[in-house]
Amino acid sequence: MNSTEQGFLMRVTHLFARGAAVALLATLAACSGGGAATTVNQQATPPTDTAQAYTGPPPANADVQAFKINLWQNIRASNRCGACHHEGGQSPQFARSDDVNLAYQAALPLVNLTRPDQSLMVLKVGGGHNCWVADPSACASTLLVWIQAWIGAGSASSTSIQLTAPVDQAAGGGKQYPADPTAFESTVYPLLKQYCVGCHTSSSASAQQPYFASANPAEAYAAAQSKMNLSQPNQSRFYERLATEFHHCWPTSGSGGAPDCPGSAAAMLAAITAFANGIPVTPIDPSLVISRALTLQQGTIAEGGNRYEANLVAKYMFQTGQGSTAYDTSGVTPAADLALSGNVTWAGGWGITLAAGGKAQAPTSASAKIATMLQASGEYSIEAWVAPANVTQANAYIVSYSGSNTTRDATLGQDVTQYEGFARSSVTDTNGNPPLITATNGGAAGE
Ligand code: HEC
Ligand code: HEC
Repeated sequence: MNSTEQGFLMRVTHLFARGAAVALLATLAACSGGGAATTVNQQATPPTDTAQAYTGPPPANADVQAFKINLWQNIRASNRCGACHHEGGQSPQFARSDDVNLAYQAALPLVNLTRPDQSLMVLKVGGGHNCWVADPSACASTLLVWIQAWIGAGSASSTSIQLTAPVDQAAGGGKQYPADPTAFESTVYPLLKQYCVGCHTSSSASAQQPYFASANPAEAYAAAQSKMNLSQPNQSRFYERLATEFHHCWPTSGSGGAPDCPGSAAAMLAAITAFANGIPVTPIDPSLVISRALTLQQGTIAEGGNRYEANLVAKYMFQTGQGSTAYDTSGVTPAADLALSGNVTWAGGWGITLAAGGKAQAPTSASAKIATMLQASGEYSIEAWVAPANVTQANAYIVSYSGSNTTRDATLGQDVTQYEGFARSSVTDTNGNPPLITATNGGAAGE
């Protein structure tokens, strides 16, 4: 990479950098018409460090040292937490500059080592407490990165799914509805027929499905089965509707004519329990090999993908949802925040949508960190989560680290049904030509 070219231009939703280099990443970017032309950035004045040099006692051990370089020196400045949580200032004094060991002691209770994202520090700032940029979620994400780096979780993916063990229970105990409705007719059905018939039958003036109060017991029985739970009668919808949702309870003997939900619910539960008790447990075929049991509701939906997040240099989550800044929450200073301009709108579920002329671009002063770190390692990777708006646009640039339209260090783009990757090196021209191109039959519709 050539350091004379800076200016981090990006035209996607989700951008992040990693691998001792840049990595950009976009979710849900609908790029159409090729985005904006590449423009050369103005040089901005570099941010000034408002923290004084540290002259206090050295870190007492390796963990204090890790705290010092990963978290403390990022937050102790007088324009960060150090404005208040300094020595002699607001307690807890985790950002004190006189003694890093005392700052460390004050910081420990504010950090959750097993669930760093649940750290008081992260939650407090995420909740709107003195974020140094406009969006508290950006500060919370950045603090989390620093805390993870300190406690040694930094190399692990911070977006991995947290698995929770389900209740340990044996299989078996299953009951099946008998084909014959007779038992239902003498237990639950009388209550339904008496108190729910005003609506839950097809002949009612205000007919309401399911028709479990039908005059035809077979029809009622079929409709009632999914509203009862034979192994746990108190989980039956018939019972819950009365007990907790106060859905058309009826008056009972002691209620003086007023609807009595506890009384109705108890009567319904007794009827369902009597019905269930009369049904034998269906034994499991002993020739089967069985595992422990899990019900559908106990299954947890694992959401979100994992991501390898070690050595990120720039990372954009697009969580802010409004305004004209997409924050860099990599935790690597300076933050190369992207300014949104032109035809860019926020998309739900963390993303931006880019149409012709729209772009998200970081200033040269901040994005220079990318060139510096890339050159140190000689390696980089770019990750972008994107969805193209169409498969007809050509030269639609998704992510680019470039100086102009003809000088590109790295560019990821879409050309009709193909993705192309320009990576400038000794065997390409200054624009990164020839690019690496995906196979045509793969298409550009996926990620
Ligand atoms: C303008 C002054 C100010 C700044 C700047 C500031 N804080 Fe605070 N902080 C306070 C005050 C005042 C309290 C006590 C009242 C409260 O809990 O809100 C506090 C309380 C806290 C607490 C709660 C401690 C506890 O035990 O409940 C945490 C955590 C915290 N701050 C974290 C931070 C972090 C992290 C930063 C930097 C991003 C920061 N604060 C910046 C003033 C500040
Ligand atoms: C005055 C009309 C009316 C009466 C009487 C009535 N319901 Fe309903 N019921 C509704 C309506 C409307 C819905 C659909 C909207 C809803 O779920 O609340 C419904 C839906 C239901 C459902 C299906 C939805 C679910 O959450 O599972 C159940 C079960 C139910 N009622 C139970 C009863 C029982 C038991 C009785 C008699 C004790 C009863 N209802 C009496 C109007 C009535």
